[in-house]
Amino acid sequence: MTIHIGAEKGEIAETVLLPGDPYRAKWAAETFLNDVKLVNNVRGMLGFTGTWRGNPVTIQGSGMGMPSLSIYVNELIRDYGAKTLIRIGSCGGMQDSVNVRDVILAMTSTTLSTPSRGILKELNFAPCADWGLLQAAATAAAAKGTPTHIGGIYSSDVFYDERPDLNEQMVRHGILGVEMEAAELYILAARYKCRALAVLTVSDHLLTGEALPASERESSFGDMVEIALQAAFP
Ligand code: HPA
Repeated sequence: MTIHIGAEKGEIAETVLLPGDPYRAKWAAETFLNDVKLVNNVRGMLGFTGTWRGNPVTIQGSGMGMPSLSIYVNELIRDYGAKTLIRIGSCGGMQDSVNVRDVILAMTSTTLSTPSRGILKELNFAPCADWGLLQAAATAAAAKGTPTHIGGIYSSDVFYDERPDLNEQMVRHGILGVEMEAAELYILAARYKCRALAVLTVSDHLLTGEALPASERESSFGDMVEIALQAAFP
């Protein structure tokens, strides 16, 4: 057990999928895994371990924002030995070419700041996805026929961002979408020699104001979970 995860040692798989929302962890585990067991319930941040095509997988909620994700990912890697960590989450689209329901595979993530800033100091470290996972996810998404974009995203600390000029620069520089967790996941994976990827579903669009209706959220998010699982076990 750690401060934030109640699982016994051995109850967490080396491959961990990380949705921000703990209820999405429950839904994904019950929908896609076999032999599912609840392994964490501390603070309601649900985590489940099961198998996918015979491979052990944990699906653990990470909460919203990089400080929350940093807590779970530090404990998963350092205390439970997680090696492959794939964020599955939603993002806001930032390019005309990106549509609601599309999937984005985050090759890299731009930030203003991350929880690692204190140790990286003036270094503008470039967080990047694991190439093998990215390539396998791209192959899986193409096989499914899911409209998919691969490139840079923006990991923000602010959901209700009141600086339109900043978003303008992101759009201008080709950033595909905005979310709030991937950059710190990539930095921690780099630091601890793990593999990481963020597979994101576009749930809303900053330029058009369009948003995925609640009724469609599950089916769209399902594609993302399958892509993540296939990337982990190609
Ligand atoms: N901003 C930040 N994170 C998000 C958004 C957004 O617009 N949409 C989904 N996650």
